[in-house]
Amino acid sequence: MSDFKDLRIVDNFYQTSLFFPMPAVLVSTLSDDGETNCGSYSLVQPYYVAGKDHYAMLLCCRNSSNTAQNIIKRKKCAINFFPDDPKYFKEAVRLGWPGDTTAEKMKDFNMTLTDGARAQNDPEGKYPKIVAESFQVIECTWMDALDGADADGPMPEGEDHYMLDKYHDFNGITSPYGAHFILRVDKILMKEKYYDAIVNGVKASDFPPCPVDYGYRDSKNFWYHKHRRMRAELLPVRKTTLASVRYAADRIDPTVHFSDDALEMLVNVPRIFLPTVLRGCVGWAKENGVTEITSAEMKIINDKRNKEKKK
Ligand SMILES: Cc1cc2nc3c(=O)[nH]c(=O)nc-3n(C[C@H](O)[C@H](O)[C@H](O)COP(=O)(O)O)c2cc1C
Repeated sequence: MSDFKDLRIVDNFYQTSLFFPMPAVLVSTLSDDGETNCGSYSLVQPYYVAGKDHYAMLLCCRNSSNTAQNIIKRKKCAINFFPDDPKYFKEAVRLGWPGDTTAEKMKDFNMTLTDGARAQNDPEGKYPKIVAESFQVIECTWMDALDGADADGPMPEGEDHYMLDKYHDFNGITSPYGAHFILRVDKILMKEKYYDAIVNGVKASDFPPCPVDYGYRDSKNFWYHKHRRMRAELLPVRKTTLASVRYAADRIDPTVHFSDDALEMLVNVPRIFLPTVLRGCVGWAKENGVTEITSAEMKIINDKRNKEKKK
């Protein structure tokens, strides 16, 4: 602790009191006139990542922004990851100026708007366009039922903040000037080069050039990081022993036995996940009337799991 100083925590601490790396993205939404509005955002992150029947992102924004109001009114948005290029970051900073209308912001937009997958799949529906230059786009729908936020109305004309008796804890209008949106992930769209890398195996040169800002800004500059080639750090190899996998396996279900060659295939699984993996194998064995799981059955189970992941 002796070589740290205790910094005062103030409003917008991620901008004023921290260096906090985050992606710079454009969130596209639909305006009252049906035009696509692009706002610049960094406070956007994965929120539900597993264990539910859907996945979600979290967006934190000023509740008087075009983006917040459009999400409250029309629920749909797209998170556009534009590539690192000074002309695009300059544009993001211009689009980040508070108070401009959609018409003012978008008339000289220097990127290209195009239909996303949802618009293509549902020609009658209304969806914000996506930014064609993006290397990836997440198309989302606000989960307004969470935290009772579906009762939140648009901001009355002429106001610059909400004055409510009670603010939500985590979804919708969360403070006089703030809003949080839990956004269900409807589609992940990826440019072919990066799609191929994810499907076939990613190398250092395959990472997209994402502009990363550091949260910190001053009255003159918005700082961001030029994309650099990635470094790889080898994951630790921590093998458990066959005996400890056997110990866990023999305790799952007495009617299903694992052979040693099957359990050899699990010595790399972190201990904390082992019961879940073993239970999955036993579940498969019961469904298929199998009482002895060997490496052949393990291969079938792995292939099935890989296919499900790909789906
Ligand atoms: C790179 C960058 C990141 C930003 N991140 C956020 C953010 O995460 N949340 C927020 O409320 N405002 C953020 N801003 C400010 C908004 O862009 C600004 O409020 C803008 O007016 C929003 O546009 P809109 O009204 O069209 O939604 C950011 C600005 C820039 C330039």
